[in-house]
This record gives sequence, C-alpha cells and structure tokens, in this order.
Amino acid sequence: MAIKAATLTTEKVNGRYYTPAHIVNSMLDLSGYCGSAILEKHIMENSCGDGAFLAEIVRRYCDVSVSCGVVGDVLIAQLERYIHGIEIDENECQKCIARVNAVVADYGVFVVDWNIQCADTLTVAKDFKGKMDFVIGNPPYVRVHNLSSYADVKQYSFAQDGMTDLYIVFYEIGLSMLNKHGVLCYINPSSVFNSVAANTARRHFISENLIKKVVDLKHYQPFEATTYTTILVMSKGNKKPVAEYYEYDDKYKEIIHIDTIKYSDFYINGSYYFADNKSLSTVGCIMSHLPKRTVFDVKNGFATLYDSFFIDDFDFEDYIIPIVKASTGRMTKCLFPYDNKGNLLPYDTLTKVQPIRKRYEQHRERLKSRSLEKSEYWYAFGRSQGIQDVHKKKYAINTLLRDVGDIKLVPCNPGVGVYSGLYVLTELDYDELKSLLFTDDFIEYVAMLGKYKSGGYYTYSSKDLLKYLDYKYAERTGE
Ligand SMILES: C[S@@+](CC[C@H](N)C(=O)[O-])C[C@H]1O[C@@H](n2cnc3c(N)ncnc32)[C@H](O)[C@@H]1O
Repeated sequence: MAIKAATLTTEKVNGRYYTPAHIVNSMLDLSGYCGSAILEKHIMENSCGDGAFLAEIVRRYCDVSVSCGVVGDVLIAQLERYIHGIEIDENECQKCIARVNAVVADYGVFVVDWNIQCADTLTVAKDFKGKMDFVIGNPPYVRVHNLSSYADVKQYSFAQDGMTDLYIVFYEIGLSMLNKHGVLCYINPSSVFNSVAANTARRHFISENLIKKVVDLKHYQPFEATTYTTILVMSKGNKKPVAEYYEYDDKYKEIIHIDTIKYSDFYINGSYYFADNKSLSTVGCIMSHLPKRTVFDVKNGFATLYDSFFIDDFDFEDYIIPIVKASTGRMTKCLFPYDNKGNLLPYDTLTKVQPIRKRYEQHRERLKSRSLEKSEYWYAFGRSQGIQDVHKKKYAINTLLRDVGDIKLVPCNPGVGVYSGLYVLTELDYDELKSLLFTDDFIEYVAMLGKYKSGGYYTYSSKDLLKYLDYKYAERTGE
C-alpha cells in the first residue's frame, strides 16, 4: 500500500505508537494467552513494529514449553510454526527479529527461522485466513487522507463510512484471520465507540456476538500521543450478547472488572457507551429520549472565524453588543454587523462609523481569507449560527467539564451574544436550570458520553445537552 511519506511524521505515516509492557501483559492475559493452553496455538501480531507483543508472546511460549518439557528442536519447530508477525517497515521488522532472538537466547535457543515478515498486511492477510487462534496487537492509526492510494483500503466493508482509519480496516483483517474459536485483542483509539467511520464495524461486532471484553482506558494515555484508547477482546466462539466491562486504574496500573453488561444496554443509537448497569440504564433512557424542544433548545454560539477582529474591548458603541465567552463566563464586547432581526447590515451603513471603517479596511484581506459559508459576505461572521437568537433570553454554558465546580452557566439578557460554547434557550429561571445541571448526574452523563479531553476533562455537544435537559425536566415534572 502506497503511503504519502515526504511531509508526514512516522506516527502519521505508519500510525506507529509502541505499546508499553504492562499493557501488553494485560492484553495477553485478557485474551487467555497464558498457561499451557497456548501450546500449539497459532498467534499473529499483524502490525508488529519492533515486537512489543511478540517478545512477550515468545517469552510466554518458551516458559510454558520448558515447564512442559518441550525443548530443543521441538521448541524451535513450534516457535516457527505457531508464532507469526507482519510489519510493513523493514527497519522495525529487523528490530523485532533481533528482539525475539534475544528472548529465545535466554532459553538456550539460537537459530529460529521466524515467521515474521516485512510486508503490507493488507496484501498478505489472505495467506492467514481462518488459521489463527489469536490475533493480537496495536494496529496502525492512520486517517485515510494520510494514505496516498486508499483504493486498497476502501475495498473493505468496514471502511465504507465517513473518514475511515486504518485501525478499523485492521479489525476486518484481524477477524478474517481467526479460526472459528479464535480470539482477537486490539488496543486502538476509543473513537471506535462512537465515530461515524466505525459505524459498520460496531454493527458487525454486535450482530456477530463478537465482543467479549472491553477495557475503557478513559483519560489514561499509554502512548506518547494525544489519542485516547481502549482495549477490545473479540471471540468468534462467543455465544451470548454480553460483555465483561473493565476500567483501568491509572494509579495502580491495574485493570478492574466493573460489570457484566448486555449488548442491548451498551449499544445505543449506533454508538457504544460503557459503565456499570445502573448508569447504563440511565444513559440509555436519556439517549433514546426524543426532545420536544418546547421547554429548551440548545445551540452553538457565534462562529466568527476571526474572533480577534469581532471581539474586543471597543471604545465606541455603534453596532457593539455585549458578548459572553461561554468557555470562561467572561463578558466582553462584540462588533455585531446585523440588525435586530439578524439580517446583515449594508457595508456602507456600518462603515459610516469611522473606527469600524478603519478596522474593516485594516483587516479586509484576512477577513476574506476565512473559509466562509457560501451565503456569507466577507465582512460578516464566518457562520450564521447564534445570530438569530441574540435578541432572546438565554444562558451561556461551557463544554469542558470534570466536575460540578467546572460548570459556568451565565444568564444572558436579550441583546447579549454568546461565543466559544453553547447557549440554552428556555423560559426557566436561573435557579431552576441550575438545579437540573449542577448535579453529579449531569457530570456522570457527560463522562459516559466518552468524549475525552486533556487534563481529565470531558466535552459534550448541543444535542447531548438538549437530550439531558429535556429528559430530566420531563422526569421532574412528569410531563
Ligand atoms: C501502532 S504501531 C504498533 C507497533 C507494535 N505492534 C506495538 O504495539 O508496539 C503500528 C505498526 O504498524 C505498522 N504498519 C503500518 N501500516 C502497516 C501495514 N499496512 N501492514 C503492516 N504493518 C503496518 C507500522 O509500521 C507500525 O510499526
């Protein structure tokens, strides 16, 4: 598979992040790759890098073999027959072979003709179809736009939705390599729970009863990357639509069993949500609730696409409105080139005000270079969102939370704009709205959406908030 190379980092080109040893060990344990059950079982790491998994796999195989009296040529023959690796990068592949050679040397074994090949897994996967007892690893995370010829990728059924990623295709490949009782275990981005790109994959995992175990690593990032990851264990022999759900304890580097959960409880509206059964049942009710929009609406604040031009501490008053930065709750001023009905004012009218004329002239080129909505003029906001609601009563709210103390809910009188966050349109008074939002339930709900941000924060969308408010209000009032 051709990959655009010249300007991209190694991570972006080959999706290369190395798996730390404690995660490797946990994944092998979760998959059941331990004890004498591993003898004469085929195992594949299909994007093996420098052999993070293979080194531990070989060590486990040798340990068990030696303790069962399997040594010498018999052990060598078994290592060659049952342990498999594929890696696209020649250098990494060589490092991997050197690493597994060093492992077997500890057992007095020096010449193994490893089945570890330097190849593109997409090309050679067919040679392993239906043969593996275990497929394990950390597949490459590469967005399709970083692949120069993604025709190869697009032929996979899991790659049909949205902007796909190579790790999603590696699920299809890995599953195809398994025999009818085979077990697959990958660590990969937690976007597999909710991205559009993984829609078909998620549906397939459910309809084929594949998911056996899930470890939500939440905010813990095992790689030097800003990716949030999860571990999934799939089994072709899994009969029941239930999964074991685990969380990761970052402090003790331990995986903790939380609950046994039904597919029908965690697969909600096409996405996966993970928690104990009690919280899952609440989130299930909220997610399947259809908001009536009679008491609330929730929308995104202004998107000017050039905030430092439109938002400032202006020392004149014409066409200036107060504005709340929802992310901080801070009030400032905004140049608002619209009338009371939200219609864009003529440029000539606005620029009769000298400081406005000067400002527009100075920033004309930069304003024109924004990627504007088709209908927008160069001197307008970049997007139309929020403009029509300026003259309505509303509440600005931030979208990054860890706990109740992080919520910034700011009442905005008619005439006040909102940017950098959301706003809630409602006739409820501040205390009523506050009593719905400043609760552990709301924080728990936002955490369960699984939209992780750095620093232990979670985010949510206008739709998420609307569903929550409408559901909780209906619950409270019995409407
Ligand atoms: C996320 S890294 C994981 C490396 C190793 N498995 C680990 O866990 O430390 C993914 C690896 O996949 C390799 N890779 C990328 N595309 C590949 C392909 N089409 N076929 C085989 N290997 C590939 C990269 O070179 C990289 O070494």
